[in-house]
Amino acid sequence: IINMSSLDLQGKRVLIREDLNVPVSNGVVTSDARLRASLPTIKLALEKGAAVMVMSHLGRPTEGEYNSEFSLQPVVDYLAKALDCPVRLATDYLDGVEANVGEVVVFENVRFNLGEKKNDAALSKKLAALCDVYVMDAFGTAHRAQASTHGVGLYAPIACAGPLLAGELEALGKAMDNPARPLVAIVGGSKVSTKLTVLESLSGIVDQLVVGGGIANTFIAAAGHEVGKSLYEADLIDEAKRLVANAQSRGAAIPVPTDVVVASEFSPTATATLKAVDAVTSDDMIFDIGPDSAEALAEILKNAGTIVWNGPVGVFEFDQFGEGTKRIAQAIAESAAFSIAGGGDTLAAVDKYGIADKVSYISTGGGAFLEFLEGKELPAVAMLESRSE
Ligand code: 3PG
Repeated sequence: IINMSSLDLQGKRVLIREDLNVPVSNGVVTSDARLRASLPTIKLALEKGAAVMVMSHLGRPTEGEYNSEFSLQPVVDYLAKALDCPVRLATDYLDGVEANVGEVVVFENVRFNLGEKKNDAALSKKLAALCDVYVMDAFGTAHRAQASTHGVGLYAPIACAGPLLAGELEALGKAMDNPARPLVAIVGGSKVSTKLTVLESLSGIVDQLVVGGGIANTFIAAAGHEVGKSLYEADLIDEAKRLVANAQSRGAAIPVPTDVVVASEFSPTATATLKAVDAVTSDDMIFDIGPDSAEALAEILKNAGTIVWNGPVGVFEFDQFGEGTKRIAQAIAESAAFSIAGGGDTLAAVDKYGIADKVSYISTGGGAFLEFLEGKELPAVAMLESRSE
């Protein structure tokens, strides 16, 4: 893959696809991790003397129509403060846009364009015609074959990867392609069903697969324990058993907690009660792992060579159910392993427990991160590969 860093961009029209899809509330960006991650790429293009254009989607608006709720204006306001140059939003850009060296023109939400999501060729060609060099830097959207992430790259004079995308691929490749072992993955979250494919592929690769949250409850039930009123998926118990057997057949393990924290209601003021996993009753709801289980996992993480983390192990938004996730975060911070964290909830936990600078790499990907872990080829990356031949 061609990397933007190695190109001469002096006086060139450079169109960078970033993933600036961040949460916005009342016109203000509320989590800027993705924006911070994209700044070095934009700055590098400016330093190289390019006329810089940046495009992204934000949210999931109805395609083909403007909707102020999904405008990139709050992102433009953020970038204008973070960059030392003029930054402006362009709403009509498809038929031509003026971009000058030394400024940044941000295209309004690409999902307002009809044909974006179906990777329409005519739309892709219009975007390609606006630039001399197309830079795909949106790792978080690299699993989408859409006009701004894929089609445009087929028609632009040059298509290359930006430093953020290249860095993500390198870090994730280091964790998954030839990892220092033991390789430990932590997959938390509410449902087995949404993460079944990633659990499936990880159970065939990792040495330990730590499951958490509602996912763990399904595995606890599969191990024959009562889970009471906990969130779990009865129809996936057989699937969970198969994954455990799959891991065990290779000498790997999917450990289930030995103790859990339960409550009788889901609320910020619910009383937390610690129980052995075989003492859970029909009225209980499991919201976290207990201290013995957390210690056992911390020991596994301490000895790991590589750690991949996606998803908390408890309802850490409520402090009384956050101890398990906190202990895991601390263990990752203390471990000498190469560690990667990705996904919105995981990054919120990383921030809450203050371990951001102790994780080896923090990915900007959610869905793209999971698809990479599944071993799937990301369409935008495949496009860049085809353009570098
Ligand atoms: C994400 O947040 O995962 C990416 O920005 C992709 O967004 P999408 O799922 O709406 O395509």
